[in-house]
Amino acid sequence: MENKIKDAGTAKLEIDGKVTELPIYAGSVGPNGIDVRALYKHTGHFTFDPGYTSTCSTESQITYIDGGKGTLLYRGYPIEQLAENSTFLETAYLLMNGELPDKQQSEAFVDTITNHTMIHEQVERFFHGFRRDAHPMAMMCGTIGALSAFYHDSSDPQNNEQRDMAMHRLIAKLPTIAARAYKYSIGQPFVYPDNSLSYSANFLKMCFAVPAEPYEVNPVIADAMDKIFILHADHEQNASTSTVRLAGSSGANPYACIAAGIACLWGPSHGGANEACLNMLKEIGTVDRIPEYIARAKDKKDPFRLMGFGHRVYKNYDPRARVMQKTTHAVLAELGIKDSAVLDIAMELEKIALNDPYFVEKKLYPNVDFYSGIVLSALGFPTSMFTVLFALARTVGWISQWNEMLEDKTQRIGRPRQIYTGATQRDYVPVSKR
Ligand code: ACO
Repeated sequence: MENKIKDAGTAKLEIDGKVTELPIYAGSVGPNGIDVRALYKHTGHFTFDPGYTSTCSTESQITYIDGGKGTLLYRGYPIEQLAENSTFLETAYLLMNGELPDKQQSEAFVDTITNHTMIHEQVERFFHGFRRDAHPMAMMCGTIGALSAFYHDSSDPQNNEQRDMAMHRLIAKLPTIAARAYKYSIGQPFVYPDNSLSYSANFLKMCFAVPAEPYEVNPVIADAMDKIFILHADHEQNASTSTVRLAGSSGANPYACIAAGIACLWGPSHGGANEACLNMLKEIGTVDRIPEYIARAKDKKDPFRLMGFGHRVYKNYDPRARVMQKTTHAVLAELGIKDSAVLDIAMELEKIALNDPYFVEKKLYPNVDFYSGIVLSALGFPTSMFTVLFALARTVGWISQWNEMLEDKTQRIGRPRQIYTGATQRDYVPVSKR
């Protein structure tokens, strides 16, 4: 990556009367950053920012979010335009390479990914070591991490060709592994990839086909799956992406880095929220019970939160939620689902919350997870698979960010510091005297 940050003046920091000048840098759009790298050397102080609400960990040219306006751009292109006009693989190429592919590049890329969809038979056997009731995310984490053991001779992060190979393998094999995690959990035989199908159609077939019956992929459903993958492909320096970068900063194997990202994504405050949202909509049950839940969400003494509402960065309608709402309607119409209680509750809840002063003042808008649970369950996925689908799509963002970090020669191993508040030095006390 060619570094592009520009000088934008200096900030002055005064500590005990001593002024230190800190460089300010500007990007192409968005807030500037104050460079505090030399702060400790010059002042003996660290910055303190648990949760990283005011910290840039890197320069990046991949994804931009304007949380105030509700804008999400992949390499400059608005997410709505990509969801409407692009495909997941074309978006993957864009995120990885910086530009949309021309026809030839696109065909070559699709061909490469399609030719890596198979997984080693020994990886197949790996699955049988898991308990039947293992969470599919546990299987994803273990199996993707285990790929390190299969490609240890071609996973050198400092070698450009090997890095490309690892990125292609990850994008190609994630659907095969995700589908197997699902099939294993329901006791059905694994379905091998069908390279005549598109990325999303092949994934749906591997999840839902059974050997005893013919399986036709519904193009409307495959298109919806592709859109859902596009919406989740990247989201700048979120928790799981930062985890992948941090793991990768030590020079770790790419498969191990992605396994670390999957582990982080699994948490309910990150990738697990759509499951929580769908459960909440089911718990509400009927439209007339919505006011009770709105009141609970506003009550400071009640830990209940309106799932699928609010976001650390978006202080406006999450642009992905709009596409997701449209996709939900398209899928339910295609499947002939006319009476969806959860959709009715979701739409009414959204209407009420968008007009309620509590949510308006705190800028709490629907996020991508508000509708995704409804659509994924209509597609036939159990809730335990929701985060797996997110991981499948986000792998493209993770590897693009990992690759960008390795190309940026100014990057060093990630190593934050702390403000220590534990015991100061003391002498060891023998057990007889404690
Ligand atoms: N329902 C009710 N109140 C809320 C909600 C909510 N969903 N979200 C935030 N608030 C309130 C908080 O109580 C707080 O109020 P206060 O200022 O009076 O104390 C204020 O809004 C700010 O909330 P924070 O928790 O400080 O915001 P933060 O940026 O740390 O959290 C988060 C963002 C975790 C997404 C939060 O909004 C939340 O818990 N939402 C529900 C879970 C969810 O949908 N997560 C999915 C995120 S999207 C994704 O990961 C893909």
